[in-house]
Amino acid sequence: MGLESLREAVAEYLRTARGVSCEAEQILIVSGSQQALDLCARVLADPGSPVWIEDPAYFGARNVLNMAEARLIPVPVDAEGLNVSAGIASCPRPRAIFVTPSHQFPLGVTMSASRRLQLLDHARRTGAWVVEDDYDSEYRYGNMPIAALQGLDRDSRVLYVGTFTKILFPAIRLGYIVLPEDLISPFFEARRAADTCPPLFLQSVLAEFIREGHFARHIRRTRVICRERRTALVEALERELGGVLEVLGDSAGMYLSVALPAGWRDREISHRSAAHGVWAAPLSDSYLGPARRNGLILGYGGTPAEQLGVAVSKLRDVLRDYARDRPRGPSHAAATRRSTAGAGQSPTTARRRGSARRAEPL
Ligand SMILES: Cc1ncc(COP(=O)(O)O)c(C=O)c1O
Repeated sequence: MGLESLREAVAEYLRTARGVSCEAEQILIVSGSQQALDLCARVLADPGSPVWIEDPAYFGARNVLNMAEARLIPVPVDAEGLNVSAGIASCPRPRAIFVTPSHQFPLGVTMSASRRLQLLDHARRTGAWVVEDDYDSEYRYGNMPIAALQGLDRDSRVLYVGTFTKILFPAIRLGYIVLPEDLISPFFEARRAADTCPPLFLQSVLAEFIREGHFARHIRRTRVICRERRTALVEALERELGGVLEVLGDSAGMYLSVALPAGWRDREISHRSAAHGVWAAPLSDSYLGPARRNGLILGYGGTPAEQLGVAVSKLRDVLRDYARDRPRGPSHAAATRRSTAGAGQSPTTARRRGSARRAEPL
């Protein structure tokens, strides 16, 4: 299950910082949340088991559920997070539900309190397991931290998944699952069959790092840095592409997604920007079915603020070239002229002239 001192340190941290209700015995240390999601898929789903997944979703969750041959039920996400009523309408009795309630990946919204209660109520009534992937919740900038869904769960239906990838660094490959009592034994068996445990040396260093208070200080310091980076990115996007791109989601995390004007293809734009050294993942890849939105996922956690301004200027040039080259029918021509008129202007100018995004809401 992992090194005892680390399990104790993680339990203490989750109780105080995330409102998770847990004891060290419920903590399983894993190799990053990817292994946590993989174990959840293997233990909770049989081939053909219906599993709700957010649409759009984190590719890491989708991949492990496909590997487990689960039957994926895409459930749309709106401004309040997972649309529980839509999930019930398409599949009332899922075996499990995979969600990112604190900061939906990739749309960035926070699940509302009423949706959280509706989700837990449905899980209680149907016996579904809820897998809460709480991958970057330490980083919230606008308002107070949102407590974990797990802390609201009175019926032991939620498996809480966390990771040190965002708070420390991805190569550390350490994460954890907080398991309901009934699932400790099957997860222990599955874990032992998979790879025994992550290196004890790393676990021991991390336990001391947390116990000695460095971890809490590190979070406080990096939260300030990440907020500065996010502010720099949002300001640069407003300045350079104010009328063209729409920033989605809440002020949180280490990435943000932007919506492109209607008809613009994110895969091609992503490809073009990669050729200029700017990594902007296509939003449409995260949809299970047809993409309802084309957009870009922009990571800022690992990039100094000055470089983000340079990157946005490159992205602006890429979008200008794309708007010029892209094939378009007569109805698209006028919209594109309006939307690229915004690129490079102040937000006010772009707003005055109007934009294709506003003319053709996504
Ligand atoms: C939604 C989501 N979950 C989890 C993770 C972290 O994965 P891991 O802990 O395996 O590095 C990420 C990282 O990008 C993510 O976006």
